[in-house]
Amino acid sequence: MSISLVRRPRRLRRSPIWRQMLKEIALTPSDFIYPLFVVPGSGVKKPIASLVGQYHLSPDLAAETAAEVFALGVPSVILFGLPAVKDPAGASGADPEGPVQQAVRAIKKVVPEMVVATDVCLCEYTDHGHCGLLLNDQVDNDATLPHLARQALSHARAGADLVAPSDMMDGRVAAIRDLLDQEGFSHLPIMSYSVKYASAFYGPFREAAGCAPRFGDRQSYQMDPARRREARLELELDLAEGADIVMVKPAGPYLDIIREIRDRCHLPLAAYQVSGEYAMLMAAVAAGLLDERGAGLESLLAIKRAGADLIITYLAPRAARWLGDQ
Ligand code: PBG
Repeated sequence: MSISLVRRPRRLRRSPIWRQMLKEIALTPSDFIYPLFVVPGSGVKKPIASLVGQYHLSPDLAAETAAEVFALGVPSVILFGLPAVKDPAGASGADPEGPVQQAVRAIKKVVPEMVVATDVCLCEYTDHGHCGLLLNDQVDNDATLPHLARQALSHARAGADLVAPSDMMDGRVAAIRDLLDQEGFSHLPIMSYSVKYASAFYGPFREAAGCAPRFGDRQSYQMDPARRREARLELELDLAEGADIVMVKPAGPYLDIIREIRDRCHLPLAAYQVSGEYAMLMAAVAAGLLDERGAGLESLLAIKRAGADLIITYLAPRAARWLGDQ
């Protein structure tokens, strides 16, 4: 029997030149934001056990790393701090001499053009490890807001180009916007972790940043993975409060949410390929089960195809090299 096929998609897959011509999207190093974990001191570069290939860096070596990454075409880093001291209110987060504030200044000195983003949250600075102040073992939303705003202001004063609140308190974008505006930083954009789920995929990060909660979990402030529609509500609130860039986190297991937000929002959209996504890839690579470059680039391409403009990823320097070699 002979059949005549009218549609043969393979006609346009026959040669590399067709495949090249018909790509709808392409990754570039300028899509990436690279996370750095900053510790006090100088000359410190210690491998992070839970995140193969990532390091705890003192501000001077964070600047050196940022410069290397910038030279690869990655335009931005996001800084997380491990402070020398912690207390119930996370006061060290707003210390002008804290590791993040020092690293911001050091990076801007070496690579002034680089977009230096800072994570704004209390969990790395509180002794209980929650993202806000506690009242009777519950996170007290409104009492937390001024502390977040003061931390963001201290990052701004150090020279940060972008502040990124990740705490998931209601109203924090507005609180940060107000204080920044009052203090002369009306030009400074806010990238809000708008849609942040309570995810098991943050495990390796919490070890890296020393911010696992001492008791309980983050489900009273981060979102339930079983809820999709609530993502639209969080988006609307952040738009109303003045976010400049919105974010979905995690990325790979939440591609449907990235698309949902992309279709409803005209702001730039970032997605965070989180520590657990990276750790899974690296574990599979170490076990000889996946090709690092192939699976790494495909995971990033999928996030961009879902609608992300920017991708926060631990793969940033390696992916930039892979793209350069193509
Ligand atoms: C701080 C924060 C977390 C991550 C980014 N900012 C941890 C958490 O919310 O528990 C996770 C990033 C990652 O897993 O790579 N609130």
